[in-house]
Amino acid sequence: MFLKIFVLMSSLLIMLSSSFANELNIYSYRKPFLLKPFLDEYSKQTKIKFNVLHLKKGMAQRLLSEGKNTKADIILTVDISRITELKDYNLLKSISSQVINNNVPDHLVDSDNKWVALSTRARIIGVSKSRVNKDEIKRIEDLAKPQFKNKICTRKGSHPYNRALLSSIISHNGYNQALIWAKGLVKNFARKPQGNDRAQAKAIFSGECDIVLMNTYYFGMMKFNTKNFEQQKWADATDIIFFNQNDRGQHINVSAGGISKHSKNSKESLKFLEWLTSEKAQKIYSEINYEYPVNKNIKPSGKITMWGSFKSDKIDITTISENTPKAQEIIDKVGW
Ligand SMILES: [Fe+2]
Repeated sequence: MFLKIFVLMSSLLIMLSSSFANELNIYSYRKPFLLKPFLDEYSKQTKIKFNVLHLKKGMAQRLLSEGKNTKADIILTVDISRITELKDYNLLKSISSQVINNNVPDHLVDSDNKWVALSTRARIIGVSKSRVNKDEIKRIEDLAKPQFKNKICTRKGSHPYNRALLSSIISHNGYNQALIWAKGLVKNFARKPQGNDRAQAKAIFSGECDIVLMNTYYFGMMKFNTKNFEQQKWADATDIIFFNQNDRGQHINVSAGGISKHSKNSKESLKFLEWLTSEKAQKIYSEINYEYPVNKNIKPSGKITMWGSFKSDKIDITTISENTPKAQEIIDKVGW
């Protein structure tokens, strides 16, 4: 009898401790200043405390080596290839959530429900306001036209942002057309690929480049930069082109989240992911980092509407990730 009560009591305790986690551990590729506002708001609402491990690379290797002993509950990444790498190594739990299904459209949720996109960013074409006629560029395919020789600048092709863009072109036009496009693009370079996205806008301002590739949030971070006024000039010299608006739509990339396979706090972790897709959290994405909402019921608001709205490419984001190795092959072939 005593043993029975003891077993009952201890299983009750286990149930209680597992269903009322008051601390969650996050492994994050997202930078601290971009994550903190979300955690502060959620902690205020729920009293849940977060412990965050910020990583710049090697998350998959770390989770693999930690195995079942990992402390990770929630995984947050930027760029589609980084979250799918974790899925491919079988490091994520399946998430099943009506809230997420109601908030986020299918093409932004993993087909096996291993992750969900939490924000989107458009990789746009930036052009010199004074030296380029915007009307000459309507499609990303246009950048391979000989008329733009010595005008285009980008960061290295193998950077995940460019690789995902090329991968989207493979997904729509096929490998051979994408290869021809990449060859033409490289022929039009004004300089060897270098620097980050902001460095391309700086080169527009200095006159070295006329046409560049850039993620929309960098444009916002430059335009409203109150610490480095120089960057405002880079943004002001640059016009944004949302491309392929008359056909498939503008290529987008995502930041995403999932739950660690060995998390002991899946329920609470899922609640947090669900909250990240809610109206309140989706607004924080645009306020702090000029990103676009994934929630289909929410329209972009605030400063990001200043550079216009656009039609986004609705291709399943998983397809883009699947074509990433082929994109890298083309990047190596053409020397981007
Ligand atoms: Fe970035």
